[in-house]
Amino acid sequence: MTGFGRRPARRGRDIPALLGDFGHDLPTLAATPATRPEPDPFSRLVSRRGPTGPGRAAALAPVSVWRMTSEQTPVVWPLIAASGLPPTGAQIGIDLLSGGAFYCDPIGWVTDDDIPVTNPNVVVFGKPGRGKSATVKAFALRMLGYGYRALILGDTKDEYEPLCRALEVEPFVVGHGLPARVNPLAFGPLGHNWASLAAAEAQRREAIMFARWIVLIRGLVGSQHVPFGPVEETAVGEALRILTGYRSGATRLTEVTIPQLWAALDQPTGQLVAICRYADRRHFLDATRTLRDALGSLVKGSLAGLFDDHTTIAVDWRAPIQSLSLSRLEPLGDQAVGIALTCLNSWGQAMREIADPGDLRIVIRDETWRQMRLGPEAMKSLDANLRLSRRDADVQILLAHKPSDMLTAGDTTSQAVAIARDLLHLCDCKILHGQDQAVADELGTLLGLTPLAQQVVTGWANAGKGRALWLVGDRAFQVQTVLTEPELRLTYTNDALKAG
Ligand SMILES: Nc1ncnc2c1ncn2[C@@H]1O[C@H](COP(=O)(O)OP(=O)(O)O)[C@@H](O)[C@H]1O
Ligand SMILES: [Mg+2]
Repeated sequence: MTGFGRRPARRGRDIPALLGDFGHDLPTLAATPATRPEPDPFSRLVSRRGPTGPGRAAALAPVSVWRMTSEQTPVVWPLIAASGLPPTGAQIGIDLLSGGAFYCDPIGWVTDDDIPVTNPNVVVFGKPGRGKSATVKAFALRMLGYGYRALILGDTKDEYEPLCRALEVEPFVVGHGLPARVNPLAFGPLGHNWASLAAAEAQRREAIMFARWIVLIRGLVGSQHVPFGPVEETAVGEALRILTGYRSGATRLTEVTIPQLWAALDQPTGQLVAICRYADRRHFLDATRTLRDALGSLVKGSLAGLFDDHTTIAVDWRAPIQSLSLSRLEPLGDQAVGIALTCLNSWGQAMREIADPGDLRIVIRDETWRQMRLGPEAMKSLDANLRLSRRDADVQILLAHKPSDMLTAGDTTSQAVAIARDLLHLCDCKILHGQDQAVADELGTLLGLTPLAQQVVTGWANAGKGRALWLVGDRAFQVQTVLTEPELRLTYTNDALKAG
């Protein structure tokens, strides 16, 4: 039978022969001396009683036996378990307590009932240069892959520009003499299709918009150390209702600017005086003098040419990142920058009131301490911006130097501390980069850190860039942010030092 016989091997040409036929000679490798394969170290299994053979006694290994409760076990045998956070979201770096990778996924944490986190907001504290911004930039960049987009509400050092350009987005530049204007009193998407809204819906939206505007004006007036009480609130509220046309039942609301608001208060109409229940014009002017002066000085000063007209920028909400560069304001001082941040905050909140489902966004407020330092009213306005934010799908990130930035210079009254604590409660994830020893106390009083955790922040975290104590709800993690080489380039902020 030949049918089942082995077929003669077909001899084809191999690659060198094939190439040789066409006149190409492949270089040959020098023959390497044959190496002996390493012996397999696990060729034989050893039984539970140990290796047997001449000279060996078959006996169980002398293991000591201990009996204890599960509460005592970790003391004798400090088992290091995994972090307990699921590996979802952005991989940040190394969790040094477990040795595993650390992932940050604020919205994922909120939706997971096993993690004690109820809001996706993040506050980052740390001494300048400890890597706060770099960690946040890396987080934003790594979340892009999960469909998140980033919005930088005020880049006071233009340090997000390399990141924007790497993502092929040109940041907006806000500064005197530049065309970009942002109107903090813009309606945002809530003002769309006003004419076709049902009365109840129009009223609901009106309440949201007016609440935001009052919060903004309160923060701005408060930054001039002028009180903003019910008298001022009524005057501003009514002036806005008249100017927008809401009071006269207009089907299309008119957008107002801050100079228009100031003019309406400074030259009150009979209608405004009557609605605010003043006897006459003189009475109105006397009662609102400090308010008008504070707004007037802002209109002519810090806001002039920046936040005093209708918005001229068109934000592309489909772009992976959008940023507003503010470094041009730096020479004007901390207060002017703080006021600009307050305006941008309010505008940013308006823009995010309504968003398409699935529009996940990371809203970054770097250098928030400048706004915090404006005083309790500015703090309240920041607090309200986070609180009023209707969008649970936004991860809001605040960056500041130290917890006491939230207390205005020297103001450690219980009210100021209460406002600061309130704001901290709105951020269930806290990232604590290195701090000096002098700040240890406030870590305890304002953040409730134990002495051991304080030491991690003032010692370990302070000794390296990107090191931070992460508080996720009531759990703590000691994390080293690991940056890739391109990220190191995009987050580099020491250009000025290097040039020097
Ligand atoms: N995890 C890290 N590894 C290496 N370098 C880092 C890390 N974090 C920050 N840096 C570098 O340190 C410098 C200061 O960081 P930055 O984020 O600007 O500090 P901060 O915002 O706290 O003032 C930057 O040049 C940055 O590239
Ligand atoms: Mg920074």
